[in-house]
Amino acid sequence: MNGLKTVVYICLLGFLASCSQQEKSCDAPPAKKAIYNPNGDSELALLMRDMFDEGMRVKEEVASGKRPLPKWDADAIFSAHATQPEKVASPEFKAYAQSFLEAAKAMEDASPEAYRQSYQGMVKTCVACHQEVCPGPIVKINKMLLDESEGL
Ligand code: HEC
Repeated sequence: MNGLKTVVYICLLGFLASCSQQEKSCDAPPAKKAIYNPNGDSELALLMRDMFDEGMRVKEEVASGKRPLPKWDADAIFSAHATQPEKVASPEFKAYAQSFLEAAKAMEDASPEAYRQSYQGMVKTCVACHQEVCPGPIVKINKMLLDESEGL
């Protein structure tokens, strides 16, 4: 009987560990997410997913020496409905959103020499907001960073 209990316990631990690494929502396991968000993903989550996909495309181009501008509706970050509305209503969220928009805008004015750096700086503003309000997807967002060992 004791042996069975141990097996059940180990399975449970494994299950909990796999949950805590999920990258989809900020911190909530599916059951909790359903309370906030019964109708599927929030507008903000969809916007973020698009920004990630577009970001990875842009990264490939930047890495090969091109100067693409991301095609995304970044301003919608202020109006998109979020899974946890109280999070995006905070002054911290607004300040991080503002610095992200400025960094994205700075790419438009960056000189060819500074382009890789301006792209990298923009990605770091994604990460900065996430460190504060939504740590779950950081591992994923880090994939957008250029390899700095090759120089920026
Ligand atoms: C100002 C803060 C802020 C900035 C800047 C920001 N995010 Fe987010 N991100 C969030 C919040 C809050 C959520 C949770 C959205 C929700 O669940 O409603 C999120 C969710 C995500 C998700 C998970 C979406 C899903 O599938 O549930 C990804 C991926 C993501 N962001 C990528 C990015 C990328 C890439 C950038 C930069 C191009 C970025 N984020 C910039 C706050 C931010």
